[in-house]
Amino acid sequence: MYLRVINLHKHFQTQAGTLVVLKDINMSIEQGEFICAVGASGSGKSTLLRQIAGLDSPTTGEVRIGNKVVTGPGPDRGMVFQHYTLYPWMTVQENTEFGLKLQGMSKKQRRDKASYYLSVVGLTQFAKSLPKELSGGMKQRVAIARALASEPKVLLMDEPFGALDVHTKESMHEFILDLWQRTEITIFMITHDVEEAVFLSNRIYALGARPGTVRKEMKINLPNRNHQIKRHSIFHDYRDELMDLLRSHGQEAVAA
Ligand SMILES: Nc1ncnc2c1ncn2[C@@H]1O[C@H](COP(=O)(O)OP(=O)(O)O)[C@@H](O)[C@H]1O
Ligand SMILES: [Mg+2]
Repeated sequence: MYLRVINLHKHFQTQAGTLVVLKDINMSIEQGEFICAVGASGSGKSTLLRQIAGLDSPTTGEVRIGNKVVTGPGPDRGMVFQHYTLYPWMTVQENTEFGLKLQGMSKKQRRDKASYYLSVVGLTQFAKSLPKELSGGMKQRVAIARALASEPKVLLMDEPFGALDVHTKESMHEFILDLWQRTEITIFMITHDVEEAVFLSNRIYALGARPGTVRKEMKINLPNRNHQIKRHSIFHDYRDELMDLLRSHGQEAVAA
């Protein structure tokens, strides 16, 4: 078991009293899996990812990577957020190198590593461009290259395609599946988009809301990952089951 979330609870103290956001979350992720956690807005997805990333700590319970309890952020976990987090004044190359610079890597080494990961995401020709010169999908590919450059064991993504239009989102789905197959990296992604989760992942945690709990763990076995599969009944069955699970716990999950 590579990444484990064990009996995790997260409460926040608010003016109205104690807000229970995550309740008794248990998850386990093997190396090389592509896992999605799906829940309505407000079900605690970002809060869960922040605990896994080590940006915040659980009220009770723990997150383990291998045998180590997570106590803070680390290079073994790469993060990609929904909103573009590139520095607007830095080139694509400089943005990709940024984490490596913080780790104290030499200039040549970080240039080579960043160039390699920009080629992995297909953006070599844009190394000298500024973020404002790129489309939304390209910016997210830079964010993914930056996360990969530290060679994390797991890529943690918080609704990474949520701000993209439908067509860009489809091409990013193809891109991330291809990347996952080529690099054999472990991916843990959260999303409110049911179809996205069914299309991309090999296992899904369906989250109920208020408080966020794991409603069900679903294995996804699709015969292929072509977009045409979305017209087939096997895809619809997974989607409908997931929609029903989420519907009883919030109205904000969407099918597309
Ligand atoms: N630091 C915080 N203090 C108080 N409440 C918070 C804090 N962070 C998140 N919440 C609350 O936790 C709930 C879940 O938020 P979030 O994890 O962002 O959900 P999601 O990502 O699924 O939309 C929301 O009701 C939000 O207001
Ligand atoms: Mg969120």
